[in-house]
Amino acid sequence: MSIKVAPSILSADYLNLQRDVELVEKAGADMLHVDVMDGMFVPSISYGPGWVKALKQVMTLPLDVHLMVEQPERYVEEFAAAGADLIGVQYEATQHIHRALQLIKNSGAKAEVVINPGTAVELIEPVLDMVDQVLIMTVNPGFGGQKFLPATLKKIEKLAQIKREQGYDFEIQIDGGANDVTTKQAYDAGATVAVAGSYVYDKVDPAAKIARLKEVTSD
Ligand code: DX5
Ligand code: ZN
Repeated sequence: MSIKVAPSILSADYLNLQRDVELVEKAGADMLHVDVMDGMFVPSISYGPGWVKALKQVMTLPLDVHLMVEQPERYVEEFAAAGADLIGVQYEATQHIHRALQLIKNSGAKAEVVINPGTAVELIEPVLDMVDQVLIMTVNPGFGGQKFLPATLKKIEKLAQIKREQGYDFEIQIDGGANDVTTKQAYDAGATVAVAGSYVYDKVDPAAKIARLKEVTSD
């Protein structure tokens, strides 16, 4: 077993996006991470459902869509219709996290709840039986290329413990600052999927980076 890898297109070359996503697909990535930012929940603006629809035409990998958007329930159906296989909503971005997750499930996509570094794992316990994946942000969301926050490792451990005790089978994903060292630490704490943006795409060989993340977590 080794960690699943979800390259984030935030660090890909947008003028050569098809080349960059096909490259990671061939290299054994497990899903493709699409960061949707609205300029409100986070300062940056990235891309919308049109990008998901375009990616869907050339990808067979599952599209893992992370909504960093205020009141994400407004957009769930549109992203599902565009081809999102999994949709993640931030706990902090809605007053109705349960309803937002219900909407995702009703749309036919897999459901994910996301928590920021400053949000306690205990707050999402009431919805853990509804989700296919939990994303523990390991940086504050909004930008690629930030440094992994070590304090989030305890949260991964805590979530993994709840998962074990309750017999849940959701994936535990990390996002932000993943490299070969931090991914290994997160894997040992109980993470099962690593999002990696700059580590995979910023240097010369994305395929070697994916292989490296798998290698350091193989047991
Ligand atoms: C941060 C995004 C991440 C980002 C990760 O707001 O959610 O998915 O692309 O980038 P790296 O891996 O460069 O920290
Ligand atoms: Zn993300």
